[in-house]
Amino acid sequence: MCGIVGYTGRRQAAPILLEGLSKLEYRGYDSSGMAVLSGGNITMYKSGGRLSELKRITDNGSRPAGTIGIGHTRWATHGAPNDVNSHPHISKSGKFAVVHNGIIENYLDLKLFLTEKGFSFVSETDTEVIAHLTEYYYNGDMVETLRKVVNKLNGSYALGVLSCYSPETFYAARKDSPLVVGLGERENFIASDMPAVLSSTRRFLLMDDGEIAAVSPDSVLIYNANREPVEKTPFIAEWDISAAEKNGFPHFMLKEIFEQPHALDATVRTRITDGGIILDNIALTDEQIARIDRICIVACGSAYHAGVLGKYFIEKLSRIPVETDVASEFRYRSPIVTDRTLAVIISQSGETADTLAALRQARKLGARILSVVNVVGSSVARESDDVLYTRAGPEIAVATTKGYTTQVAALMLIGLKLAQALDRIDEKDYKRICNDLIGLPEAVNKVLENNIQQLQFIASKYYSADDAYFIGRGADYALALEGALKLKEISYIHAESYAAGELKHGTISLIEKGSLVVAIACDDRLFGKTLSNIKEVKSRGATVIALCSDSSDALRAECDHVIELPQCGAETYPVAAVTALQLFAYYIASARGCDIDKPRNLAKSVTVE
Ligand code: F6R
Repeated sequence: MCGIVGYTGRRQAAPILLEGLSKLEYRGYDSSGMAVLSGGNITMYKSGGRLSELKRITDNGSRPAGTIGIGHTRWATHGAPNDVNSHPHISKSGKFAVVHNGIIENYLDLKLFLTEKGFSFVSETDTEVIAHLTEYYYNGDMVETLRKVVNKLNGSYALGVLSCYSPETFYAARKDSPLVVGLGERENFIASDMPAVLSSTRRFLLMDDGEIAAVSPDSVLIYNANREPVEKTPFIAEWDISAAEKNGFPHFMLKEIFEQPHALDATVRTRITDGGIILDNIALTDEQIARIDRICIVACGSAYHAGVLGKYFIEKLSRIPVETDVASEFRYRSPIVTDRTLAVIISQSGETADTLAALRQARKLGARILSVVNVVGSSVARESDDVLYTRAGPEIAVATTKGYTTQVAALMLIGLKLAQALDRIDEKDYKRICNDLIGLPEAVNKVLENNIQQLQFIASKYYSADDAYFIGRGADYALALEGALKLKEISYIHAESYAAGELKHGTISLIEKGSLVVAIACDDRLFGKTLSNIKEVKSRGATVIALCSDSSDALRAECDHVIELPQCGAETYPVAAVTALQLFAYYIASARGCDIDKPRNLAKSVTVE
């Protein structure tokens, strides 16, 4: 979704804004723009399309001149992605420029109000009202002015505002959309996400909802909604800039697939100790765990798929009933949540609007909130009672890989912790699963070493397929969900996932000669049943690619290709198996020449509902 960068300091702003925006490209966007203030005048450059176009029209940031400015990548919601609708938006007199991430739900009412006051509109966006409102309320005091402006807004916003009356200071505000302040040496920044300014600073102030910031080169003043000053302790990001670079890989997605062993190690190793599972930032006592009578896992997209796997694992080990919901549905189905419910909220970015709304709903109904989050200090993390950070490092490719696998590993740690606290796992199983979890980096490394050539070969054979069906049972079904999503989102091949036993209840009518079926048959307990389902599609002419942990002659006889994965734990194998599915999707998309890191229509951080 939209990305915001702001700069004020001694250096020229335009190149810094461009660099920052390029680091936010991963969030998804379809147009971009910037405004720079100099000599009391605001100069704007905006353009539809890729950031390369903004770079071209600003001659790589050599214009406009000025040491204070705001920049924006726009993911269109209100109005087409063209030059006019791109941000920044400027007020009637040209004295104020605004960049915005979020949605102003009452913008039509505000438009009417402003039109009656003599303002006219050039764009179709909801954002333009903010620029005109700023001008309308301006009284010489920008913080007070912005306070009046945001009081009028319904919806979500992260804002950067430039005023020609403040030659060195720009302003920021947020509610339900991410925004951080970066602290430099005689220069300061704002950004939607830390990687945008990591090359200049690792010190950040995390803004909270309702706050307004006045950002100058030598100071950052933050105020709460009542205009009282707020003291904040800077947060030091552990990520360094190299984590947000491709480092020789053709795509961030491939780099991030290869980073999984390291990310998994960081997520798991220090949390498995001789004294049991130690989950830092989780204050749940054994007595509180004993009171839990239901777990609701809530998330979106791949994080939801991690939650589907989590359900299998946590129920099996802890014997606590678990439901997994898509966040955008959870709120609207009258979920049964009480003060004995543990809500497990999963989000890589920690900013997904639907997930955040579900978290708030669960809290309102009395649940304790335990979140599994990657981005430290994100909204989901800050609104939770307990947080288990996944330590995957920055994930730049829109399609998640290491974000997902570390979520799965984190859920396994939670399952083990609950089972241990409730005394529902015997010592032998506990030790075995702990060893399997510690062995996950090695298992993924083996896939990266042993299976890659075969996956490339298979991808080169089937990259022109129109449809693909992913099938599996149990945890393999959860993997089918993720495998199909990975393939469709980056290669644009239509892909569906089915519980293997469910296919014959309708969808099998689509199977004909040459239909591509990816059968996940890794769970030994269900192997025989899945094999029968493979036979059903094979006998109707399908081309079958099977993923298994132990290939048998029977499987080889039925399938066109068998991908044998390294032997790893009965519960933990999905992490290795999904790595093969990620690579399969990646090489297919690569053969089709797709824009792998930034698939069309998608955004990394989905901050609108
Ligand atoms: C798919 C993908 C998305 C995200 C979903 C949730 O590859 O990345 O489906 O998993 O948008 O995002 P987070 O985890 O940031 O809440």
